[in-house]
Amino acid sequence: MKYSIVYSSRTGNTRQLADALHASLPAEDCVYFGTPAPEALAADRVYVGFWTDKGSCDETVAAFLQSLPAGKEVYLFGTAGFGGSAVYFDKILDAAAANLPAGVRVVGRYMCQGRMPQAVRTRYEAMPDSPRRQAMLDNFDAALSHPDADDLDRLCRAVTAAL
Ligand SMILES: Cc1cc2nc3c(=O)[nH]c(=O)nc-3n(C[C@H](O)[C@H](O)[C@H](O)COP(=O)(O)O)c2cc1C
Repeated sequence: MKYSIVYSSRTGNTRQLADALHASLPAEDCVYFGTPAPEALAADRVYVGFWTDKGSCDETVAAFLQSLPAGKEVYLFGTAGFGGSAVYFDKILDAAAANLPAGVRVVGRYMCQGRMPQAVRTRYEAMPDSPRRQAMLDNFDAALSHPDADDLDRLCRAVTAAL
């Protein structure tokens, strides 16, 4: 089966997932690897990676998902700054999948946490002390090590299981 890997990554987290996937899938079946582009549509299955923006996939991926013709298979993967909740990840994946036209089949979904720029922590630090501020600081610090080797491995194993 021919496949493409399409990803959008501002700070490199989602790119790490895309690179791991690229290294683990059979190279001879890959027709495209890179940022959203029409060339990716030459494949039967498209692995689409995004960073989370306002609770959904970023807008370049949203536009790409909307452009997929019926009959394609899609595997969605993404990174988000807030982690620790499968329910939260599912909401983001549902919001991303809502961009898909009818007739495009989702064959798998995966999300993990991704570190955020230091400027975000600085903004939290400037807020008045509260349980919410502390929770955001704790989440920021927990995100710093992600995606880690285990996140990449879990993606590759999930994708292999869906082949
Ligand atoms: C403008 C902007 C909006 C974001 N919105 C969210 C959000 O709604 N939810 C979330 O969990 N993370 C959010 N994030 C965090 C990123 O999705 C997260 O750090 C991601 O791993 C970045 O991936 P990248 O390195 O591939 O760009 C946002 C980041 C930026 C810069």
